[in-house]
Amino acid sequence: MSTGTGTGTGNGTGPTRFEVVRQGAREHDDVEIVHYEPQYPPGSKAEKRMTRIVSLMFMLSGLTAILFVLAYVWWPFTDWPSVDGWQYQPGNTASKGFTPILGLMLGLSLGFLGLGILTWGKKLLPHEIALQDRHDGGSDPAERALTGTTLQFIGEELGLARRPLLKVALAAPAAGLGAAALVVPVGMLIKDPHHPDVFFHTGWDPAANGGKKVRLVREDGVTAIRPEDISVGGQITAFPGIPEGNRNKHADSPVLLIRLRQDDAARLRENIKAYPTNAKFEKHPMVGDLVAYSKICTHAGCPASLYEQETNRLLCPCHQSQFLITDNAKPIFGPATQRLPMLPLELDEEGFLAAQGDFAVPVGPAFWEKPSERRDA
Ligand code: FES
Repeated sequence: MSTGTGTGTGNGTGPTRFEVVRQGAREHDDVEIVHYEPQYPPGSKAEKRMTRIVSLMFMLSGLTAILFVLAYVWWPFTDWPSVDGWQYQPGNTASKGFTPILGLMLGLSLGFLGLGILTWGKKLLPHEIALQDRHDGGSDPAERALTGTTLQFIGEELGLARRPLLKVALAAPAAGLGAAALVVPVGMLIKDPHHPDVFFHTGWDPAANGGKKVRLVREDGVTAIRPEDISVGGQITAFPGIPEGNRNKHADSPVLLIRLRQDDAARLRENIKAYPTNAKFEKHPMVGDLVAYSKICTHAGCPASLYEQETNRLLCPCHQSQFLITDNAKPIFGPATQRLPMLPLELDEEGFLAAQGDFAVPVGPAFWEKPSERRDA
């Protein structure tokens, strides 16, 4: 049986803390400490080396937590040196790294902290084997006092007082993770979600085209569309004819341009009158029998583009929402509760299709400030 003396001491004249703990454990808890031995001699080279390893893990934990904070506040450096972080920016390739970097840094920080604690427990704390008989009932006050002394003893045996490097190293994850825990809620208070106001504007806003109305173009991003390009019952996906209008930067802008049959178009024209948001359009939003609706499903944002000519239904493949085009893209089946926004069309001076302006309501799923709309509206 090996036993150590423990490093915790009383006032220097009486028994050491370890002796008090051991005696108390034996008399009050029927616990016999049969083996107690530090893994390394205190102050030895091996102990110092292990202390440095544990400290390094804590410092790496703190460093990666600080990197999390820096990435959260300043990533991406789009307009460096004028920092413009705090948010994902559509179409910005660097922005794609934002969330993965946050996850990686926080994961590494917690991982290093866990590894540090594990290594400390496995390599720096003394080995102890204690045996105890089972007994029933609660503890008396003397035992509770003993427990307090035991906890103090354990605190001393952690060795923070003897290992100041560990104490300093522990401050790193404490500071870093503390800052990481703070920066997210504080950031949410500081950050203005409407700057830039990306939810309310798409590539069809003339502001994205130097104040000029935006033409509808094909997926190559440049070929403008004439009404006669679409046959009756046909449909094509159209993009805003602006730089990068067919790229991810304007992923909220694609519309499905449909040429309805004459009687269906007449029915839609009637139904549009009853749809209040169209009061915002300068002119009637259809060009002949042509109509354009946002392709972004109002349920969860999937592209809704399976158009069935016979029934005039537009189907979203993600969760099977169906929108009835002749009733102004009203959701008639599935989880979507809002209509697809209509893009108001007109012909420009050269006979190409263009948007009168932006959508009257934000595209895609609902968010706090999006005007709500009843399913039966
Ligand atoms: S995203 Fe279209 S139905 Fe869910």
